[in-house]
Amino acid sequence: MSPSASAPRYTVPGLGLDEGRQVIDLLTLRLHALNDLALTLKHIHWNVVGPHFIAVHEMLDPQTAAVREMADSAAERISALGGEPHGTPGALVAERTWDDYSVGRADAIAHLGALDLVYTGIIEDHRRAVQEAGGIDPITEDLLIEHLRGLEQFQWFVRAHLESGSGSLSNAGATTEEQAARRAAPQKAAAKRTPAKKTALPPAAKKTVKRAAKKTTASKRTTR
Ligand SMILES: [Fe+2]
Repeated sequence: MSPSASAPRYTVPGLGLDEGRQVIDLLTLRLHALNDLALTLKHIHWNVVGPHFIAVHEMLDPQTAAVREMADSAAERISALGGEPHGTPGALVAERTWDDYSVGRADAIAHLGALDLVYTGIIEDHRRAVQEAGGIDPITEDLLIEHLRGLEQFQWFVRAHLESGSGSLSNAGATTEEQAARRAAPQKAAAKRTPAKKTALPPAAKKTVKRAAKKTTASKRTTR
């Protein structure tokens, strides 16, 4: 059962049960986004090729470790608020509002072009969650701000590979991961993956798809 389906029986001192439920709901999607990002970073770590292989391959492991810590802190905040963090792949796929990362084996700079868009999506959504949490629970707001400090530094690490001496980004204006990959490394063909389809969900996860679809108003691919 999704944590959003029922109110907590208790929450932290100073918050009402309904306020606790609101914060748990927003943290639930942040937890999914962070778990998704940690998996995506490993996927890229395994699939980079080309002259920049070792630099990008090794850059991504500390990012993965830090993002896993962020996911852990989000999940433990959900528990402290009286909620139930769901860390299983089925819950993530059923409740997320974006599709799988779409680039397979590809040149390292092509991956970084696409990863820049991934970071933009999660950072924008984390910032929105900061605004929402700020009016209810400053502790959660502070936690998310701490995440953003790391996420924005990691995006800078990625963007530094895409930036010219004049300060422009090679993937500027791209709206999809494939497009960003092509713009970042125009001479290298980025292999397109077939993203996981909702129809491939395990039976247990399928039960929650309709509820998740009803609940979200965010468009696919644009948020994380
Ligand atoms: Fe490794």
